[in-house]
Amino acid sequence: MKKSLVVMAALMAATVMAVPASAEGEKVGISMPTQSLERWNRDGAYLKEQFEEAGYEVELTYSDNDQQKQVNDIQNLISDGVNLLVVSAIDGQALNTVMDEAVEANIPVIAYDRLIMHDGSTYYVSFDNYTVGVLQGQYVVDTLDLENAGDKVYNIEFTAGDPADNNAGFFFNGAFDTLKPYIDAGTLNVVSGQTDFDTVATAQWDTQTAMERMQNILGSYYADGTQLDVALCSNDSTAMGVTQAIESDYAGDNTVIITGQDADEANLKNIVDGKQSMSVYKALANEAIVTLDVAKAILAGETVDESFIESAGWEFDCAYDVESYETTPGHVCPSFLLVPNVVTADNIEEVLVAPGYYEQHDDGYYYAVQ
Ligand code: GAL
Repeated sequence: MKKSLVVMAALMAATVMAVPASAEGEKVGISMPTQSLERWNRDGAYLKEQFEEAGYEVELTYSDNDQQKQVNDIQNLISDGVNLLVVSAIDGQALNTVMDEAVEANIPVIAYDRLIMHDGSTYYVSFDNYTVGVLQGQYVVDTLDLENAGDKVYNIEFTAGDPADNNAGFFFNGAFDTLKPYIDAGTLNVVSGQTDFDTVATAQWDTQTAMERMQNILGSYYADGTQLDVALCSNDSTAMGVTQAIESDYAGDNTVIITGQDADEANLKNIVDGKQSMSVYKALANEAIVTLDVAKAILAGETVDESFIESAGWEFDCAYDVESYETTPGHVCPSFLLVPNVVTADNIEEVLVAPGYYEQHDDGYYYAVQ
């Protein structure tokens, strides 16, 4: 019952916001959070390219991780007469005013990559965020063969993302839920005792902040020679800070398993050099393709539901989810969730180079194909 009602609500939302079916003269406003985190520069470029190739005029803004600036940027996009908004929120809880304005102006809003906690979010396009965390946790389980650890104990610390970013909780929960059975069994030991999200979170995903927190943990709990076996980091910008802390403040051997996400170029270097163990790659170009196709359908007043995926003809997997992402209690935002992939030194060629996303340069490292 709930599912059909939700689908009906989504269909009504799409219908109510329908506008003529041509891209002629239609304008799309794209609001990205920052350029200081590598991936968003690519997101902005891919989205702009996709929409312009489809005939839309595009206005692209970056808000320097400044919440108020993002509100102003989106208000300016609305004033400039955009027909649809694509927004990756700096703080998913802090856009109510501007989302009310978008709803008032009958402007559909696609929440891009990060959920906006407002019922005006017409659709959510992202990767399966919980699975990102599961992949990180499972990598640890498999690498240490925790299933067969016997009475061995491995020490682990957690570094999560920005508490203002709705994704961060999903990443952390996916990893923690995967590893919790081994923590409960005593096979994994969180020496600092820091396991609740708010304690291990990293404001704005900031590398320096992640580094300083890990330096404090190493100084407080590992200076006596205690071995650190795993640093579970939710993304690459925090993994970079944790890696720097381990290099500067950890006396043990450099066999610490360090996880990440986004396949940032600097982190791929660390993966090639054996300083970081893995990242989780999300094909942003595909995320932009889904966003464009959903936007076109919304603007054309077409039905956007589970059947849309079959008709879209994408050459990659994408799930339609009407249960996981509530914008307010009981109101689910229909979501299109793409599939993340583990990347390690062993499969960089297969996961990143073969599909044409990255290329290897003469220095032996891997760089995104511009
Ligand atoms: C998340 C995003 C991740 C992560 C972080 C920093 O919302 O899904 O890719 O890197 O932001 O950009």
